[in-house]
Amino acid sequence: MKALVLSGGSGTRLRPFSYSMPKQLIPIANKPVLEHVLENVRSLGVTEVGIVVGDRAAQISAVIGDGERLGLRITYIRQEEPLGLAHCVSLAREFLGDDDFVMYLGDNMLPDGVEAEAREFTEKRPAAQIVVHKVADPRAFGVAELGQDGRVERLVEKPEHPRSDLALVGVYFFTPAIHEAVAAIGPSARGELEITDAVQWLVTRGDRVTASTYDGYWKDTGRADDVLDCNRKLLDGLKHSVRGQVDEASVLIGPVVVEEGARVVGSHIVGPAIIGAGTLVEHSHIGPDTSIGRDCVLRRTHLSFSMALDGATVTEVRGLHGSLIGRMAIIGPADGRTPHHRLVVGDHTTIEVAA
Ligand code: DAU
Repeated sequence: MKALVLSGGSGTRLRPFSYSMPKQLIPIANKPVLEHVLENVRSLGVTEVGIVVGDRAAQISAVIGDGERLGLRITYIRQEEPLGLAHCVSLAREFLGDDDFVMYLGDNMLPDGVEAEAREFTEKRPAAQIVVHKVADPRAFGVAELGQDGRVERLVEKPEHPRSDLALVGVYFFTPAIHEAVAAIGPSARGELEITDAVQWLVTRGDRVTASTYDGYWKDTGRADDVLDCNRKLLDGLKHSVRGQVDEASVLIGPVVVEEGARVVGSHIVGPAIIGAGTLVEHSHIGPDTSIGRDCVLRRTHLSFSMALDGATVTEVRGLHGSLIGRMAIIGPADGRTPHHRLVVGDHTTIEVAA
């Protein structure tokens, strides 16, 4: 089996972060989403991986490389415009050949893994197997209607009035039958070639299309709140490890990772929390459920249930909670002390001030 990982698209829901980095590279527990995805693919025993990339191709290949580090052989497949998930399959036709493959959306986090689902597919080998997960409001997803025997009867992409509570998770198992389907469908109302329509085409033709239910944790990391929630979930199993320096005036409570070259001075860190390599935390309270990237500076700051990406500086801000701070962002008082707040804020940024 091969893997096709989709990492193009525009990621507009994750603005302002997606202006400067593809959403698949947002770090969760200090590791890019795409790397978590590729580790899951590797744990299925798959080593041959095609990654569909859009105009952020250079950034993605700079981080992921040729895959050797992850035990994978990676082929990058360029998509000039995000014309849909089924369009990605048609672009990858040559790479996929006549092999079965798992298609994995590069922004989907399934930390509990999909080994059981993959096993089910290889054992029963239906024409296609989707993965579904029960959600309270499925309107933002593809929605599946299943028959008594677990066969898929109908699939609808982002319906206004869903007829089931089973959302399509971004992992699909396909035999080469999908290529006929992809070639046969036309663009949807939003102008994309939908994989949902391609799978529906197989259902309509009478092919056996099955669904497996994933009961573990699942997040499509398309929004800031989802990223924070997912970060909390991944930090849950953190193992305490201190490779940087922690002075005697500091207290670490619970599982805390202090990476190499990081310094913790006169601070309280409540785990689970990660302090990235080269970061300085001084006279601050950090955590729980917090990841600080590399080379950040936090001084006299209180920060919980948050993420600061590489190179961020936060000085003298207390009560930060549920915050996502971008790379090289600077938050704190001006050098000369002014009586005003001064904001130099990028497009589509959200700032919520305490009441
Ligand atoms: O997350 C699960 C959902 O993913 C499913 O329930 C839906 O049925 C499925 O259509 C998809 O919906 P989204 O609207 O969330 O898809 P999104 O545009 O976010 O794209 C998913 C991934 O595929 C993302 O990593 C970007 C990449 N992509 C997307 C498009 C449209 C591409 O590489 N090329 C594309 O043309």
